[in-house]
Amino acid sequence: MNKKLKAFALAILFLALITGIMLGFTLGLTHPLPWIFIIVLAGITVLTKKMTESEFVTWKDEYSVGIESIDNDHKKLLSLINNLQTSSLYYTGEDFDKQALDELLEYTKFHFAREEKLMEDNGYPDFQAHRRQHKHMTDHVVKMVKEYQDDSEKTVEDLLNFLKDWLINHINGSDKEYSGFLREKGVK
Ligand SMILES: [Fe+2]
Ligand SMILES: [Fe+2]
Repeated sequence: MNKKLKAFALAILFLALITGIMLGFTLGLTHPLPWIFIIVLAGITVLTKKMTESEFVTWKDEYSVGIESIDNDHKKLLSLINNLQTSSLYYTGEDFDKQALDELLEYTKFHFAREEKLMEDNGYPDFQAHRRQHKHMTDHVVKMVKEYQDDSEKTVEDLLNFLKDWLINHINGSDKEYSGFLREKGVK
């Protein structure tokens, strides 16, 4: 179901429940029907909020690689992913989608370049392998952004799943490997 249809279906459900509550109260305050509708309405509200919140990524201290500029980049990337998540969950318009995608792609490239320069300048032995991982990821994202032209909703959702998964694993894996080496060289 696309997001416009989902939002419309949810609005109809809320409207039906509110109407049910109002009509139910005409049967008297002691009648169980309006109270049942109120409980269902509250349940759906809480559930929708929880499901929506779980889609967003949050920074955790355990993601820190111990180098301030890199941690700040990673935090910024997570916030750009959340921007894109907002555009995927709500109808924010094509301009917002496009801007969120462009910003994320540009900042990812900027961040990778910063990491690669630090690694190269400090003679990190696995520099080439790490750079290949970055290139592979960037190529994949560029390809998905192109596919966005054909099926915007599907691609944004696929892209988000890929980014969340890739970025968290990369930060916690490969980035922590080079950051240990750089910290020993005195990079903060
Ligand atoms: Fe990184
Ligand atoms: Fe990296």
